[in-house]
This record gives sequence, structure tokens and C-alpha cells, in this order.
Amino acid sequence: MFPNRRNRRLRSSAALRAMVRETSLSPEDFLVPLFVTEGKGIREGIPSMPGYFRLSLDHLKNEVRELWAMDLKAVLLFVKVPDNLKDNRGTEALNPEGLMQRAIRAVKDACPDMVVLTDVALDPYSEFGHDGIVQDGRILNDATVEVLSAMGVSHAAAGADLVAPSDMMDGRVRGIREALDQSGYTNTGIMSYSAKYASAFYGPFRDALDSAPVAEAGIPADKKTYQMDPANRREAIRETLMDVEEGADIVMVKPGLCYLDVVREIRNAVELPVAVYQVSGEYAMVKAAAERGWLDHDAVMMEQLLAIKRSGADLIASYFARDAVKLLG
Ligand code: PBG
Repeated sequence: MFPNRRNRRLRSSAALRAMVRETSLSPEDFLVPLFVTEGKGIREGIPSMPGYFRLSLDHLKNEVRELWAMDLKAVLLFVKVPDNLKDNRGTEALNPEGLMQRAIRAVKDACPDMVVLTDVALDPYSEFGHDGIVQDGRILNDATVEVLSAMGVSHAAAGADLVAPSDMMDGRVRGIREALDQSGYTNTGIMSYSAKYASAFYGPFRDALDSAPVAEAGIPADKKTYQMDPANRREAIRETLMDVEEGADIVMVKPGLCYLDVVREIRNAVELPVAVYQVSGEYAMVKAAAERGWLDHDAVMMEQLLAIKRSGADLIASYFARDAVKLLG
């Protein structure tokens, strides 16, 4: 009898669909990005990221307690650095009493078991908004790696569980690993932004941290000499395999949705956990369309997160983490 196999049989009820579902989301899948700012009692909205805020340390503590109660167990910290503390070498990044260092301690104080991951890159500290030191119209690689390595040690000393270099300098994973080990932080891990593309989807994040690159010192206002060309797939595998070799504990692809082919290939190529960063522009697009009533916010959000997971992500850094976990119930 035609047809022999009727694929619709297993779709005929919610219970059957649940039985044969291949992918699911759970709170443990998420890394929650948090933006930290100086001051007290501050919870500032970010216009291009509706529903997301910059938090002063007191609010940060409340936030992580709430996240923990929702089974969200990992946060990825970013700081908004006051303009007067920015320079070309990221000097403030190494201040043991700097905002990042205080933020790490505040999270551990409020919620000792929360896994703390920290952004390691110069851009929030750079007067030029670049992830590296600028000299003679170039971004210096090896001199930047030295600062990033010291930054990693400083975050480890403050209590970070994993440091997360997002700068795309060559050799930074090895540099950071060696520096951590030499300083006795053998248990501090590295989540490397291994395949990070020069994407236009980072705009709202740069608003949040006031960290957009400026066209100055002979360098255009983009990051194309260090972040990857969106046209490249094989190069992403090479970058990632090198980070594994250099000692990364978790590798990452960023942004998310436009790069799921890359996620799948990396998932097949490495044994380490793979994280995906669903970035600020991806979040903003869903919020904007939903505000206009053009898309169903929750349904689109869950479909996108599921697609990221299906493509091979073990972990998802997402501004939707809270909303999604609420829906998971
Ligand atoms: C900076 C950094 C960026 C993001 C994470 N770390 C921006 C950039 O590279 O310019 C983007 C995250 C997002 O858009 O949500 N090193």
C-alpha cells in the first residue's frame, strides 16, 4: 500500500511529538551575559537592547541570586569603563580594584556557586574601541597578548572560573594558559571565542558598553584585521583547532544564527564543549519585530535557540536566557 511510511504518524499528538523530539533546551545550556557599570542603585536600560540593563554592583548581586533561583548557573561578565580610565594599552584592565575585578568578587559573594566567566579583550578599556593596542596604523598582536595574559591572571585572582578571550589576537589562548599556570591558577579555565566574525550584529553591544571602534590613528572603524571574514568556513575550523591545541577548555562560534553551518562543522571536528554566542543584534532584531507586532516574540525566540542547539551547540550565550527559561517552566 502506498505510502509504506507515513511520517505524519509520529506528529499526530503533542505526546508523540515530545517522544521523538531530538533536541531540547534546559537552563544548564545557557550562559547569561551581564553588563556592569559603576555607581550604586543603577539599572540603566539600553535603548537598542529592550529589556536589557547595565547594572551597578548592588543590582548585579540581586540579579545573580535571581538567576541562580531559576537554575541559570553561569554568567558572562562585561564592564562599561568610564571614559577617563580608557587608554591605548588597557591599563585599567589590570587594576585589582577595577570594575571587572570587583564584579567577579560581588557575584561570588552573592552566589558562591555561580560559574563566573569574564570577557578578556581591550575594547571596553581602549580609547580607540579596539581589542588590541594601536600603533602606526596597526593593531599590535604580541604586545596585546601580553596584556590579555595579565588580564586573565587578574580575573583569575579575583575568582573567575573561566576567562573568555574575545579579541581574536593570534596565540592568545596559549599566552593566557601559560600565564595562568605560571601564577598558580591551573584550575582556571579558558573559553575561547575561537571563530569570531567581523559582524555587523555587534552594534547594540557596542552601545551598551560605549565601545565602538573609532576611525582614528590610521585604522578604519571596523575590526576586520583581527575578526574573521564572514565569507570563510574552513578558516573557522583552523582557528578552532589551533585554540584546542593552545589549551582552550571550551570553544565558541560567534555570532549565532548566520553561522550555524560553522557550528555544525566545529561540533564534528572537536571533542570539547562548543558554545555559541547569540549576539546583541540578533536579540535586537527579534525585540524590534515583536514590538511592531510582526513576529511572535516567544515562538521566534525558542525556535532560534533550538536551532542553535540542534546545530551542535552545547552552550548558548544569550540575552534571551531569562525569557527562555521562564517559558521552559
Ligand atoms: C568585544 C566583544 C564584542 C562582543 C563580545 N565581546 C564586540 C566586538 O567584538 O566588537 C559582542 C557581543 C554582542 O554583540 O552581543 N571583544
